[in-house]
Amino acid sequence: MEQSRRIAVAIDGPSGAGKSSIARAAARELGFVYVDTGAIYRTAACGMNRRGIAPEDAAAVEAALPETAVSIQYGADGLQRMYLNGEDVTDAIRLPEVSMLASRLSALPAVRAFLLDMQRDMAARHSVIMDGRDIGTVVLPGADVKIFLTASPEDRAMRRFRELEARGTPKDYGELLEEIRRRDDNDSRRAAAPLRPAADAVVLDTTGNTFEQSCRQILEIIRERIAL
Ligand code: DC
Repeated sequence: MEQSRRIAVAIDGPSGAGKSSIARAAARELGFVYVDTGAIYRTAACGMNRRGIAPEDAAAVEAALPETAVSIQYGADGLQRMYLNGEDVTDAIRLPEVSMLASRLSALPAVRAFLLDMQRDMAARHSVIMDGRDIGTVVLPGADVKIFLTASPEDRAMRRFRELEARGTPKDYGELLEEIRRRDDNDSRRAAAPLRPAADAVVLDTTGNTFEQSCRQILEIIRERIAL
């Protein structure tokens, strides 16, 4: 479905708050395109990692950016697939070590600037639900709806714990909690586009919610704001 007026819904929040699964389900329900911007940063991080460039080496990162072609395509199933210089890296970017690399790389203003246009371009061409850290504040400041989705670190670590357990790749809960705290700290204390709610964002705390409850709440907020 494509409306004549493009609608943009920005969903920001910390790691593990359930943004992607909730945003994806809401987009499907509304017939919007779901854009996972974390995957864009992860793809760039994967590119730097393959070249042996550390995220802190700003000069080397900047020099490599023009040869780091990041693109999004949508499969027949409607799911977002990520390409790095033409190679499908959709699965590779989910490796646990890529999470922290992406978080570190995303602190560089040159990286953020490099990836900005492709995000705005998606919203210019489609009605979108876009999730990330700075969508409501920087990428789409004029978004029709802005939601800041959060949950306690313990709740987020527990969700990830269950997710990994179900996938057959369990990890220690304490370690996951520590990792979430480290990424929160990294993402919210950086100077460039830090994680924070936009002044006009609705803050939705999903601590203790089921997935269905969070989906229902988010759809209510969106429908109320754009009278769908
Ligand atoms: O959402 P995610 O965990 O896949 O994102 C990976 C990292 O990318 C995250 O730790 C911070 C960065 N990121 C960002 O800086 N800005 C965004 N809009 C999305 C992600």
